[in-house]
Amino acid sequence: MAVKTIIDHIGLLWTMTDARETDANSPRQGREAMREVGAFENAAIAIDEHGRIIEIGSRKSVGEMADGQTTWIDAGGGFACPGFVDPHTHLVFGGSREHELPMRLAGSTYLDILQAGGGILRTVKDTREASFEELYQKALSSLARMLSFGVTTVEAKSGYGLELATEKKQIEVANALSKAQPIDLALTALPAHALPKDAGISREDYVKSCIEWLPALKEAGAEFADAFVEKGVFTIEEGRRILTAARELGYGLKLHADEMESLGGAELAAQLGAVSADHLLAASDEGLLQMAANGVVAVCLPATSFYLQKAAARARFMIDEVNLAVAIASDFNPGSAPSENFALTMSLALLTLKMIPEEVFMAATRNSANAISRGSRAGVIAKGRPADVVWFHAPNPAYVLTRFGIPHVAGVMKDGIPVYRT
Ligand code: NIG
Ligand code: FE
Repeated sequence: MAVKTIIDHIGLLWTMTDARETDANSPRQGREAMREVGAFENAAIAIDEHGRIIEIGSRKSVGEMADGQTTWIDAGGGFACPGFVDPHTHLVFGGSREHELPMRLAGSTYLDILQAGGGILRTVKDTREASFEELYQKALSSLARMLSFGVTTVEAKSGYGLELATEKKQIEVANALSKAQPIDLALTALPAHALPKDAGISREDYVKSCIEWLPALKEAGAEFADAFVEKGVFTIEEGRRILTAARELGYGLKLHADEMESLGGAELAAQLGAVSADHLLAASDEGLLQMAANGVVAVCLPATSFYLQKAAARARFMIDEVNLAVAIASDFNPGSAPSENFALTMSLALLTLKMIPEEVFMAATRNSANAISRGSRAGVIAKGRPADVVWFHAPNPAYVLTRFGIPHVAGVMKDGIPVYRT
């Protein structure tokens, strides 16, 4: 088999699987499994002309597979791992919300600002007013930043339209971007992100509208449906109605669950068979247990709890006691996590979720891929898989995480093609 490219001179490679595993498609649950990273020292990876991995091994054995046509990439003796998967972002939006931080520092809460017509509703106004082209260019530059931190797959939600035309515009922008730059995108319909303050629309009208729009949003490219179930936003029963309708249409389900108050969002995600439940700062023990029993991935968003100045989710309890598969995501959005810096998300997982480096990298690759049903496509380095690989100007993963807030990426490969170098 012709070797098109070899990534050579990898000092330490974490594959996030191991050779005994015949199926690396599922997430890793609990403390022991999340720490098994499949390490190789002094490794190289061979990739074929279809961008698939054909060998992982010692530099000598992989090097012997080369022919005169092979392109060599020197990873410089540093650390390498699978391209990161960011499974929860609000990528496409208009405007910005820096004016809210002084309000929050003066004592208003995130939900107070929303109730007063700011917060998400401010971004709704800005996103309705923005043209397709403006939203496209803004999200394109965000994706370029994400790629520079080694992210090769991203989930992107609607939710700043709260009317069909703008919800669709957000999905269509993300769909167009998925064909125009290297990062793979998974699209999520989130019309149930807030109740619009438009004249004459009752709560019940709006819940019905969310359900009515689901076929059109699916047609536009959405694969998942999500809802923000929270005190003062949507109730458990409203979330259940919307997501049950979505499931009947073939959507995969996600949920903004128990972020501020323990409403039973984790339980709802478990009952509906959601792919993931996200945030979970206030999730009950019982809800987390039900999630584990039903194979729901727990997505923690440490940059959000940090920026909202709240105690982080109970990741140690989830991993050690509940045996959950924990993933992490940036939650990139203008209000509660205005940063595309996935390295910072990962460092905050170490510092505030108190996960060890092995768990952080598992949560950012294999488990996050499974949080968007990409477990067979992304998140591990294995023979036959598309070659999504990131390598660092750093000797080991703990160095990457502890030298926090700064870029360490040396290069990124997506589907066998080098797409970023420093
Ligand atoms: O996941 N919590 C609700 N939605 C987003 C924030 C959206 C916004 O503030 O614009 C989140 O944090
Ligand atoms: Fe979110």
